[in-house]
Amino acid sequence: MHTQVKPVSMEAIEEAAELIRKGELVGMPTETVYGLGANALDEQAVRKIFEAKGRPGDNPLIVHVSSIDEIAPLVRAIPAAARKLMDAFWPGPMTLILPKSDRIPDCVSAGLDTVGIRLPASEAARALIAAAGRPIAAPSANRSGKPSPTTAQHVFEDMDGRIPLILDGGSCEVGVESSVIDATGERPVILRPGGVTPEMVEAVLGSVSVDEHVMSPLAEGDIVRSPGMKYKHYAPAAKTVIFDGAQEDVIAAICARYDEALAAGERPAILGFDEHDFGERTVISLGSACHAGDAAARLFACLRELDERGETVALCEAVEATGIGLAVMNRMGRAAGFDIVRV
Ligand code: TXA
Ligand code: MG
Repeated sequence: MHTQVKPVSMEAIEEAAELIRKGELVGMPTETVYGLGANALDEQAVRKIFEAKGRPGDNPLIVHVSSIDEIAPLVRAIPAAARKLMDAFWPGPMTLILPKSDRIPDCVSAGLDTVGIRLPASEAARALIAAAGRPIAAPSANRSGKPSPTTAQHVFEDMDGRIPLILDGGSCEVGVESSVIDATGERPVILRPGGVTPEMVEAVLGSVSVDEHVMSPLAEGDIVRSPGMKYKHYAPAAKTVIFDGAQEDVIAAICARYDEALAAGERPAILGFDEHDFGERTVISLGSACHAGDAAARLFACLRELDERGETVALCEAVEATGIGLAVMNRMGRAAGFDIVRV
């Protein structure tokens, strides 16, 4: 199959919508990461997503809608707390887990009784869903186990020959996937942190819980509230270690570890901030330490770059785990197998 990449335009969106209606897959931009979209109500089409990604069948998909009115037929109930979160943060980088209706095929929800629903902020994404006239099931458009794509080029690298069309909407603004919030009960729980931060949720609901596995690996026998937590994610080929602590100590510890790795014949690289001085050592930029959103927007591209350059050791500066920083530390933590050195 030949894979075309087309900049977002009315015409390209109409072409993509037609492909979705015919049961094909489309790479689509959203404000978080690129999605691999298919008609959520068409089982055959949804199966193609799992095939193209190499995704385990027990990991459910998020269903994207273009307006709040489209949700009613997809769910059995909308608890009051969920309604408050929708009113506050949609359209935006937030997925709500709700009790699913019979209209959602079992392959979308991976046999669970719930479904993740998201109303994206991206106008291109919403225009595509509206033009298709169907809700769109879309996981991140990476091959399973690779970092999520934040540019159309990343999608092309992973999906060339597997899908007919990628809509190119430029770089994703947020850069990490949506916050996944279990909103089936009256006390919502953040299962995956993202652009809608715990602080933002707390401001609306008065309190917030964050699943303990956001910052720690799963242990044998732990209860998995979201199947995605089970899978190894975003792991670059490089052995990845995070350094956390006072700024000067972190920089010194990273430089020392870098020099050891180099002396041992490794190919080390630093994921660090522009303001910090690592001398002549190889640095892949996480952007400015002064803008919390920079590391989120760049992290996945940095992880891909590590692999492209064939680096064997990655030494990462931690960010403060508040606001969007919690999402960055969750993704970085998973890439590093939560190997965090406190200095
Ligand atoms: O920002 C995003 O959410 C992107 C864009 C394309 O919208 N999508 C995305 O999808 O990240 P995906 O499939 O890569 O990640 C969805 C996560 C997985 O960890 C999955 O296990 C979890 O959400 N999830 C989906 N449905 C669920 C459900 N019913 N219950 C618990 N977790 C669920
Ligand atoms: Mg994903």
